[in-house]
Amino acid sequence: MRYLGLMSGTSLDSVDAVVVEYNGRDLDLIASHSEPFPSDLRHRTLALMHPGDDEIERLGRLDLELAELFARAANNLIDATSLERSSIRAIGSHGQTVRHRPDAGFTLQIGDPNLIAERTGITLVADFRRRDMAAGGQGAPLVPAYHRALFHDAGVDRIIANIGGMANVTLLRADSSHPVTGYDTGPGNVLLDSWIGRHRQLEYDRDGAWAASGQILPTLLERLLDLPFFDAPAPKSTGREQFNPNWLDACIRDADCGQAQPADVQATLLELTARSLSREIGASLDAGGEIYLCGGGSHNKYLLQRLQALLEPYEVRTTAALGQDPDWVEACAFAWLAARTLEGQSGNLPAVTGARGERILGAIYQP
Ligand SMILES: Nc1ncnc2c1ncn2[C@@H]1O[C@H](COP(=O)(O)OP(=O)(O)O)[C@@H](O)[C@H]1O
Ligand SMILES: [Mg+2]
Repeated sequence: MRYLGLMSGTSLDSVDAVVVEYNGRDLDLIASHSEPFPSDLRHRTLALMHPGDDEIERLGRLDLELAELFARAANNLIDATSLERSSIRAIGSHGQTVRHRPDAGFTLQIGDPNLIAERTGITLVADFRRRDMAAGGQGAPLVPAYHRALFHDAGVDRIIANIGGMANVTLLRADSSHPVTGYDTGPGNVLLDSWIGRHRQLEYDRDGAWAASGQILPTLLERLLDLPFFDAPAPKSTGREQFNPNWLDACIRDADCGQAQPADVQATLLELTARSLSREIGASLDAGGEIYLCGGGSHNKYLLQRLQALLEPYEVRTTAALGQDPDWVEACAFAWLAARTLEGQSGNLPAVTGARGERILGAIYQP
């Protein structure tokens, strides 16, 4: 059976589309495509992530525009391969999160599923997070169930760490009588992207080169790590509602770092990601455990170097070592989640999200 996964995370870098072959156990990636975010659409989506005027009108319009973008990602992927449209059983579409407020009990992913179904002519599964929330969960992260299905090994404990806009970890104990745990650890790339955008008009800090040229600012790092989120127990999930330029600016002021070199702030932000992530990994892994990274941040050479130094003596690898390209893990997870839903199987892990129980996630839109 073939499934198509569509994913766009908090980074707003591009829409990731994959086609996978899944037989109920093994999952193979057979095609992938990355549909760039038009810059104007990116800016308007970014603006909707924070409270502002005229939100309903802007939301309504972006719901459709993003759906067109997601449909284009799916159609361009199908057109670029020789796959028969009819051979794809369903599309799993994550949608674009524009507000995630687990404390208030809501999360909002947009990109109208009706329109994607209409444009692709393929059965679509969408709105994966809200059923988990209705059952008392955080609605996030959802990838741990997929990580368990694909990466669990009865012989060794494993951590899968996804470094997207935010960062999240999944702990897979060899002994499967332990429930899988997983949660957001804090920012991944989001602050690095916004700081280099502001100071150097670049979309991201390639390989962490700019961060590597700076010096860590200890008072700022301390101030950033002071945030209660970092010490809060799981289940927990986060987003741009917390980790955004306003919060960063307030921390810079409090730490008296207003005159600091921008490169030094970038170095400190990279260290924040490395520390907050490695602290959680180190605390949950026993000797002999394995660490695998995925997501765009796994390409950041300097971040990898810092993680490797902080996590000594563990070896930090990417999911490529497990046979899954780190760039497509999340999109594959949403293809897999669509399969689960169509099979009437649950997609959430209550020990991860805090939901009252396992639930079949999402809604199905017929072609
Ligand atoms: N070579 C690289 N060096 C540094 N950062 C990178 C590199 N490649 C990708 N990234 C980072 O990864 C981000 C995208 O990661 P992704 O996993 O797609 O996140 P999301 O799920 O939030 O969209 C980019 O915004 C960028 O910050
Ligand atoms: Mg992305």
